[in-house]
Amino acid sequence: MTDQYAVIGNPISHTRSPLIHGSFASATGQELEYTAIETSVESFARTVLAFRDTGGRGMNVTAPFKLQAFDMSDERSARAQQAGAVNALKFEAGRILADNFDGVGLLQDIRRNLGVEVTGKRIVVLGAGGAARGVIPQFLAQRPSELIIVNRTVAKAQELAAQYSAENSVRAVGYTEVDRQPFHIVINATSASLRGELPPISQTVFAQAHLAYELAYGKGLTPFLRLAQAEGVAHLADGVGMLVEQAAEAFAWWRGIRPDTRGMIEALTIPLR
Ligand code: ATR
Repeated sequence: MTDQYAVIGNPISHTRSPLIHGSFASATGQELEYTAIETSVESFARTVLAFRDTGGRGMNVTAPFKLQAFDMSDERSARAQQAGAVNALKFEAGRILADNFDGVGLLQDIRRNLGVEVTGKRIVVLGAGGAARGVIPQFLAQRPSELIIVNRTVAKAQELAAQYSAENSVRAVGYTEVDRQPFHIVINATSASLRGELPPISQTVFAQAHLAYELAYGKGLTPFLRLAQAEGVAHLADGVGMLVEQAAEAFAWWRGIRPDTRGMIEALTIPLR
């Protein structure tokens, strides 16, 4: 039987993962099938086990199941543990292995594809939910000069910052404190763009920025990116690069071969205007 893989989420109809993994499989000569599965919170664990028991070798996990996937796994990578969330599973010898490639994918896109350096730079991450938690450890591994977490609910940002502040220059602040500070990289890890909203920032946050990165991929020119564009930020990223890079990492974990990502990123990128 052909090895089976799938992405699981809810909703899942707009997922690009079957297209991305199908194209990776043809490019690397790997024989596999990759589908999309929609399920509910109540049925999540049952659906995963049924998939595994009918030839499933691995899964990508997307919203809202990243914490449930964490809970049901037998072994978690250090990255998954740091994030407290899982975006990829591998079924091996009766065990469920779990990893989280979101942060690695983002950093690969920023450093290799966009050519933007992180080491020694000032970074601001907007938001302190699951998306922020998934990417902050990878930023810190690159030793930025400072990383600021900004959130409406400041206590949540403080809690997150406290996890890392022992060895790193991490601070948590509210939105009123963030204006007029020079940042090189501005990351939108809030869920505001999913509803077409702008986090309460002003354009001054972009005054010295080289890169504005939107993690909510596939939303085109969001209010966040539009503000960055108006301020003349050199690099605007809509999250497609992160999506493709994290997929390539999962593919390599499952199949032992890392596909080239550039063509797929170009194919999926919608020009921002
Ligand atoms: P995710 O897993 O996508 O990060 P989440 O855990 O629900 O989702 O977190 C959503 C994040 O987006 C939170 O940091 C939230 O801020 P609060 O904790 O203060 O609620 C942030 N967020 C959502 N809508 C926002 C908006 N319109 N402006 C600013 N921040 C917003």
